[in-house]
Amino acid sequence: MKHNPAIEKYVTSIGTTLDRFISLRQQEFPYAKGELSQLLRDIALAAKVVNLQITRSGLLGVEGLAGEQNVQGEDQQKLDVIADIRFIRALTRGQEVCAIISEEDEGMIDTGNHDGKYIVAMDPLDGSSNIDCNIPVGTIFAIYRRKSPVGTPPTIEDVMQKGSQQAAGGYVMYGASCMLVYTTGYGVNGFTYEYSLGEFILSYPNIRIPEDSNIYSINEGYTNQYTQGVKDFLALCHEKKWKGRYTGSMVADFHRTLLKGGIFLYPSSKDAPNGKLRLLYECNPLSYVMEQAGGMAHNGVQRILEIEPRDLHQRAPLVMGSPRMVEKLMQAIYKYANTTETK
Ligand code: AHG
Ligand code: MN
Ligand code: MN
Repeated sequence: MKHNPAIEKYVTSIGTTLDRFISLRQQEFPYAKGELSQLLRDIALAAKVVNLQITRSGLLGVEGLAGEQNVQGEDQQKLDVIADIRFIRALTRGQEVCAIISEEDEGMIDTGNHDGKYIVAMDPLDGSSNIDCNIPVGTIFAIYRRKSPVGTPPTIEDVMQKGSQQAAGGYVMYGASCMLVYTTGYGVNGFTYEYSLGEFILSYPNIRIPEDSNIYSINEGYTNQYTQGVKDFLALCHEKKWKGRYTGSMVADFHRTLLKGGIFLYPSSKDAPNGKLRLLYECNPLSYVMEQAGGMAHNGVQRILEIEPRDLHQRAPLVMGSPRMVEKLMQAIYKYANTTETK
C-alpha cells in the first residue's frame, strides 16, 4: 500500500530488535528447538535490569564495597553481588539452564532445572572496581550444552568444557550506551539498548576486527614483572609510538579493541604466573567473540579456546586482538622460548 511520502518520512525503521534477530537466526540451531534463543533473551532481560541499577547506582546508594570477599579473595562491590543475583535469578526462572558458574560463587550452582540443556559461566560484573568512577563495566557470559543426560542433576564435567565447545559467548557493556555483543559461531553482532523502547536494536552487524592497528592495552605498571618477550614487545610499542589505552575494565578495553583493532594483554608476571583473568568466564567467551570477528586469542602457548579446564576459577595469561599485532607479540615471546629469560 502506498502512503503519503510527506508522512512516511516520520516513520523511519527502528531497525532489527534482538528478539527478531534471534528468531531470524533460529534456523542456525536446528537441534535447539528455541531454548538457546530463550536463554539469550533471559540474558538480555537480566542485562536491562542490571543496567537500570548501574545507571542509578549513585542515587540508589548501591555503589561501594559489599564488605565481603569473593572466593578469589577479591573485595566484592555491592553491584557485583546485585548483578550476580539478577543473572542467577533470570537464568533460573528462564528454565533453560541447569547449572551456573559465577566469578562470585565458589562452586557450581545447580539451578534445579534438571530438564535444562544449557550451562552458563559468567562474570556478572567485570571491572566493578571502576564503578564508583562511572567508567564502563560489563557482564561476560559463555553458554555450553550439557554433557550429562537431560533430566539428571548437572555434573562437574558439564561445566569443565573447553572454550571451543561454546554454543554462544558474549558480553554486555554498561557504558555511554548499553550494548550486548554475542556470537553463536556465525559471526559477531552488536546491539545497542534503546531505553524508551526497552529493546536491544542491531547496531553493529557482522563485526570484524581490523587486521592491524596501533593501539596496545596492558597494565604497564607491572612492566618489571613481565617476561623479557613482553618487555621487548612494549619497547616496540614505544619505538613505534603506538597508542596506549587501558581502563582496567576488560569489557571496555575489549570492546574498543574489537571495533578499532589493537592488542589487549594480561600476561603472566612474576607475582601472577597465570595472569589474573579467569579462563571459564572471562577468557573463553571473549576469545570466542574475538576469533569469530577475525582476531586471535592466545595464552602464549596455545589458543585460549583449546585449553582444557582443570578448575572452575582457574586463571590464564591472555593476549588477544588484531592478528598482525598478536603475531608481533608472539614473535617477541618465541625469541626467548626454551631460555630461562622467559621467567
Ligand atoms: P573483575 O572486576 O571482574 O574482578 O575483573 C577485573 C579485571 C578486568 O576487568 C581488568 O582488565 C583487570 O581486572 C584489571 O586488573 P589490573 O588492575 O591488575 O590491571
Ligand atoms: Mn572480570
Ligand atoms: Mn567480576
